[in-house]
Amino acid sequence: MTDTASQSAARPNLVGPLIDEARLWDRHETLGAIGGTAKGGVNRQALTGEEVEARKLIAGWAKELGFSIASDPIGNMFIRREGTDPDAAPVVSGSHIDTQPTGGKYDGAFGVLAAFEVLEALERNGVKTRRPLEVGIWMNEEGSRFQPGCVGSGVFTGRKNLDETLAMTDRAGISVRDALQPCLAATPDAEARPLGTPIHAYLEAHIEQGPRLEAEGLQIGVVTSIQGMRRFEIDIEGEEAHAGTTPRANRKDALSAAVRVITALEELMHDPDDVVRFTVGRMEVSPGSPNVVPGHVHFTIDFRHPDMDVLKERGDAVERIAKEKAAPCPVTVKGFGTNPPVHFPKEIVDIVRRGAERLELPSMDMPSGAGHDAGLISAVAPVGMVFVPCERGISHNELERASASDLAAGARVLAEAMVELANS
Ligand code: GLV
Ligand code: MN
Ligand code: MN
Repeated sequence: MTDTASQSAARPNLVGPLIDEARLWDRHETLGAIGGTAKGGVNRQALTGEEVEARKLIAGWAKELGFSIASDPIGNMFIRREGTDPDAAPVVSGSHIDTQPTGGKYDGAFGVLAAFEVLEALERNGVKTRRPLEVGIWMNEEGSRFQPGCVGSGVFTGRKNLDETLAMTDRAGISVRDALQPCLAATPDAEARPLGTPIHAYLEAHIEQGPRLEAEGLQIGVVTSIQGMRRFEIDIEGEEAHAGTTPRANRKDALSAAVRVITALEELMHDPDDVVRFTVGRMEVSPGSPNVVPGHVHFTIDFRHPDMDVLKERGDAVERIAKEKAAPCPVTVKGFGTNPPVHFPKEIVDIVRRGAERLELPSMDMPSGAGHDAGLISAVAPVGMVFVPCERGISHNELERASASDLAAGARVLAEAMVELANS
């Protein structure tokens, strides 16, 4: 520990104990009921009617506490508690309220609700900060309904183009532009805010979505980095034909071609150290009839690694391999660019770790395997993250679980870090 860190850690605790564990838990239950599934999970995909309801709920809570609301042209929503210095840029913390189709109650929701709890705890206890504090709710983090994800934060920073993002469509052909309207209408009092308003620092609380904290018996992970990611969409054209009569030599079977491509890509991505992450998460086979040779296959690739060189080298090989292996079927490969690995600035990592130390919560430093809006926001502000465990590391699953006390511990560390930054 550095001298400065030990001095700060020795300082009396600031605000963490003001976090109300029961209130934070209840809010997860209430928000989780919107889009709640029979298996205890949540299906609240980006810009759906469920998201409209969720926005109304959170805006209602904000109003009761006298916080103001703003939204920007891509539908990011901000809840603001004023500081004593009206000209200071805010400390922002948040995450997302969209989920996977079979998602859980905590991925994203925890970051939003923990940040909201910090604002509420300070408000109810009359604790002032110099800088304003804001909850940021970033549009379409998951990238399941509209691909790719993290576009709300991406457009906010200027890394993604506003018009191209508004033109993205879901599988039913509905555009972000159209789906956004009811979401914006959900908060008619919201001030319209331009993109990219200055942020002093950004923090995000999140469940770990992996097994390490639980295995170590720790409540707090101090996140040091986010691994990089590339996404691809592959389309293979075959020729529909009769399954009973068409000899092998006459077939152009798009699914057989897809199997060859995926097998070769699995080999390309093979990593004895198990650091590479390679997932084909969606496959659509047309026309999808048992007795028709498939005429078209569409599938997605999610490829992640902490090292930019590996992302570049192996990612750049995807198109060549797909073309080679799919022959004679033609292939189109659409890449969505690279989210490079992000290393968080030491000052913010130290502030998060100090928060845990002041609260006497043992923690470990760790990288994030999952992507987060914090990665995008790092282009315009210093960022940091705090992780809490989730049961068996399971996430993107209706069985995702976290405990009330772990969530509260994470919110307490967040409160410490937000207030330290807001008074700097
Ligand atoms: C976000 O959910 C991700 O895919 O990492
Ligand atoms: Mn998330
Ligand atoms: Mn997620």
